[in-house]
Amino acid sequence: MKKTVILILALGFGILQTTHASPKDDLKIFQDFFKKRFPKVNFGDFSDGVYALDKDRREAWKDWMDFEPPFTDSIELGKKLFNKKFKNGKSYASCFKNGGIGIRQHYPIFDKKSGKVVTLESAINQCRVSNKEKPYPWKTGKLPAISSYMAFTSRGKKIKITVSNDPRSLAIYERGKRHFYTKRGQLNFACADCHLHNSGNRIRAELLSPALGQVTHFPVWRRKWANAASAKGKSGPTHGLGTLHRRYSGCNKNIRAKPYKAQSDEYTALEYFQTYLNNGLKINGPGLRQ
Ligand code: HEC
Repeated sequence: MKKTVILILALGFGILQTTHASPKDDLKIFQDFFKKRFPKVNFGDFSDGVYALDKDRREAWKDWMDFEPPFTDSIELGKKLFNKKFKNGKSYASCFKNGGIGIRQHYPIFDKKSGKVVTLESAINQCRVSNKEKPYPWKTGKLPAISSYMAFTSRGKKIKITVSNDPRSLAIYERGKRHFYTKRGQLNFACADCHLHNSGNRIRAELLSPALGQVTHFPVWRRKWANAASAKGKSGPTHGLGTLHRRYSGCNKNIRAKPYKAQSDEYTALEYFQTYLNNGLKINGPGLRQ
């Protein structure tokens, strides 16, 4: 793999590592970096990932999107599951602000009571457990179908994540930041090597997306995941769906690093850090990717 990679590896320090900046400073440095790197991309279009960078890919993607995107069925299923009553007569609406509608942009949330960060998927499963229902598996299936529906009801709302002055909230943010910059795996890459310093460059046939815009559209329906499910004889509205943590684990595996578990503290911290830096971009999930 190494030979085919045309990457300029970062020289030790990433753009956010040189100072002990506050999250607010980080956010400005991070977003300015991408605005300068891609001056022709409108800020809002970063939500489209690689399709914001390449005209031909964008056109093919738009055609795919216009022609009944495969996640339509996932949203429908998610809506049905979301509205279905638990055995105790309650439903998901009882666990969320505004009955769970139009709130995706606030997740992940730092919860003062527990001192932990709660992702949307973990909140859905917490809701199930507190209502005496079994939790769903984390990476694919019914859980991302429900979060697809919840994302869908939040389309167009700007991501608004808070990192508070509570030292526990800051510590989780810093942990995510460390993950983003730490080189790992046999290939010794950090997230930042690919999605910051080499964003817009090619790796094999793929274009590397900027880290700005990577979280707006999850869960995602991916052709690759759908094909893998079909090869195992699986089909149905959720077979191509996956959560952000499923994607993280794929990116960890690609550099031959051992992935963390979905919804582990490590990936939750990474999601918190990444989503905070995406503040201001609009939710456009569920998304469609190769
Ligand atoms: C060796 C390069 C490489 C590294 C290192 C890497 N990725 Fe990726 N990543 C890719 C490629 C290639 C894709 C698919 C094309 C794209 O969207 O960038 C991708 C896609 C993604 C996506 C989906 C983007 C979208 O628009 O849906 C996310 C999110 C992501 N990576 C996050 C990460 C995170 C977080 C890390 C560190 C844990 C990481 N990646 C490490 C190469 C890499």
